[in-house]
Amino acid sequence: MAPLDRDLLDAENTADPYGYLSQLRVSDPVHWDPRQKAWLITKYDDVVAGLSDPRLSSDRIKPLLELVPERRRAELTPMLGVMSDWMVVSDAPAHTRLRSLANGAFRAQRIVKMGEWIGEIVDNLLDEFLASGSTDFVNGLAYPMPATVIAKMLGAPEADKDLFQRWSDELALVAFGAGGEARNDRHTRALSGVAEMQAYLHDLIDKVEREPGEDMVSALIANPAPDDRLSRDELVALCSLILFAGHETTTNLLCNATVALTANPEQLQAVRNDPSLVNGAVEEVLRYEGPIKLIVRWVTEDLEIGGVRIPAGDRAYLLLNSANRDEGTFPDADRFDITRADPAPHVAFGRGAHACLGAQLARIEARIALPKILQALPGLRLADPVAWKPSLSSRAVDRLHVDYDGRATPAKVG
Ligand code: HEM
Repeated sequence: MAPLDRDLLDAENTADPYGYLSQLRVSDPVHWDPRQKAWLITKYDDVVAGLSDPRLSSDRIKPLLELVPERRRAELTPMLGVMSDWMVVSDAPAHTRLRSLANGAFRAQRIVKMGEWIGEIVDNLLDEFLASGSTDFVNGLAYPMPATVIAKMLGAPEADKDLFQRWSDELALVAFGAGGEARNDRHTRALSGVAEMQAYLHDLIDKVEREPGEDMVSALIANPAPDDRLSRDELVALCSLILFAGHETTTNLLCNATVALTANPEQLQAVRNDPSLVNGAVEEVLRYEGPIKLIVRWVTEDLEIGGVRIPAGDRAYLLLNSANRDEGTFPDADRFDITRADPAPHVAFGRGAHACLGAQLARIEARIALPKILQALPGLRLADPVAWKPSLSSRAVDRLHVDYDGRATPAKVG
């Protein structure tokens, strides 16, 4: 195997993918990965162009299903019911329609207004975290925070956040498939969890239809296009997509921010002293250690990227985390620096027709949460070295234990 053929999921790449990606950008920026059976597109300009190229299709489900044996295909079919109306896996014109019907509910003004209660959610979680003496940053803070925000945003009681957390895990399991011996069992349980979520969302929408409020579901129902509206199934699908797309990604953003800031204590201290630096800090975390490593596209017409011919029917991975470390675009790209002068726009939220619909919400959540976390946890530091999850698409910690001055219980909890 050529020296440039490395396993994206091996231990070294899991711990630190950036060395290999830098090697690829220099020596083979459009690289065929025989293990993944996919082209790895690693340079910033090529990734940006790829994100807006209609010949790279987002419909990732049907081609994948064609590759699996028939028996397995039957097993996977219920998943289609859950995901087939997700805009993120559709192309124009279906995508254009779904996106334009959802856009209104994500309008800047609405999202900014949510900041008023997001702060309260963070305060409550921090109070519980401090009182418990827990060191478990993921389960105590970073994981429940976006689940609570999404529950409230959709008009559900905050107390149902535990349900939303479980369903988000189950959606991930259904969407990505589970590995290991327990795969079938976990997959079956996850599918029944997803069915439970759908029933819950139907009830929630019934309730919102009877008593509309300030929530996002009310906004989605109240603002149809002049001659079109989301069907009930599409509305349920959109709510589940919001949960799937907005939960783990935001958890990762908070964790990755904590990892990067504790590794750069002088920058952590600068944000603590001057919370107005948080916007730059959030953008730099998104660039330096973005929550999504890559996105998958299928090539629908022969095309050329970076001088390499790619035939129709092949698969391309657009490596966001490589583009964001491209030296040609970001000088001294491997340095974490929250004060970068005039940085080029990173691609952590994608680009083009599918650019993240929740980007502003994710930014607001992190901009509110980080200064509060730094204020509440003086001397914040990692209690253990970071362990990253061996995941193809998520840059996620496996677990993250922290310590801070004056913690209530000395023993590790969680
Ligand atoms: C830091 C957190 C987040 C990151 C890094 C992130 C990243 C992304 C990326 C890269 C895409 C493009 C996918 C593609 O091109 O195939 C995307 C799409 C999307 N994201 Fe996010 N996301 C985040 C948070 C959120 C949140 C909080 C929500 C909603 C509450 C959300 C909802 C969506 C939706 C609905 C799409 C599909 C848009 C479309 O297909 O037109 N995301 N996100």
